[in-house]
Amino acid sequence: MRKPIMGGNWKMYKTAREAVQTIEDLRERMEGVEEIEVVVFPPFTVLGLAEKILRDSSIGLGAQNMHWEAGGSYTGEISAPMLVDLGCRYVILGHSERRRYFGESDERVNKKIKSALTFELIPVVCVGETLKERKEGSFKRVVETQLNLCLKGIGPEEAERMVIAYEPVWAIGTGVTATPEQAEEMHSFVRELLAKLFGEDLADSMRIQYGGSVKPQNIKELMREPDIDGALVGGASLDASSFARIVKYGE
Ligand code: PGA
Repeated sequence: MRKPIMGGNWKMYKTAREAVQTIEDLRERMEGVEEIEVVVFPPFTVLGLAEKILRDSSIGLGAQNMHWEAGGSYTGEISAPMLVDLGCRYVILGHSERRRYFGESDERVNKKIKSALTFELIPVVCVGETLKERKEGSFKRVVETQLNLCLKGIGPEEAERMVIAYEPVWAIGTGVTATPEQAEEMHSFVRELLAKLFGEDLADSMRIQYGGSVKPQNIKELMREPDIDGALVGGASLDASSFARIVKYGE
C-alpha cells in the first residue's frame, strides 16, 4: 500500500519569526499523525530554524529547488549536499513557477533529479499542463513528454524513492481545482507511463500527489480517487490549521 504524502510548499513567503510560529503550531497539530507522511517546504532562509523545531517530530523537511551541481561557481545557488547538511530529506523539482519564471527546462530538471538522488534526497518531481494545453486537448502528450525527459536515464532502484506531483498550471493559485475525475484521469495516465519506464510493480508503489488549489474543502473527494496519493499544497499550507485539516482530509 502507498502511504499518502502531504506537502506544504510555502513558496516565497514567511520571515523567520512567521515561519517559527507556523512550524511550532503545525508540529503540535500533527502529533500522533503517523499514517500520513507530512512534509514542509519552507524557503531556504528558514530551513535551519525549521530543522531544529522538527528534529524529533514525524514531519519531514524539504527545499523548493536546488542546483544540479554539488558545488561550483554558481552565485546565488544552493546544492543537494547543502540541503542534506541542513536536515532536508526532500526537494521539489520542476515546479511550474520555476519552469515559467526561471527558465527551468525538463533537461535541467533531469540533472537536478539525478543530483538529488545521488545525495539521497527524495525528489518531488512536478509536471502539469497549461490552460491552453488543456483546452487544445494536448495535456496528456505534454505531461508524457515532461515525464519522459525529466526521468531520462533514471533506473528503477532510484525511481523507487521518487514522488511525482501532477500540478495542472491552470489550477495553481487560481482557486480552480481540477475535478477529482480530471485529476484521476491524469494520475492513472501518469502511473501507466511510470509502468512503461519502471515496470508495473514499481509504478504501483510510487506516490503521485495532486497539486493546484487544494483546500480543506476539496481534499476528501480528491483522496477518494485510487491513484491520488496525497497533495502538494501551496496557499492553504501557509496556515498551520488549514494545512493540518488537509492532512486530516478536511476533518
Ligand atoms: P496552490 O499551489 O495550492 O496555492 O494552488 C500549489 C503549488 O504550487 O504547489
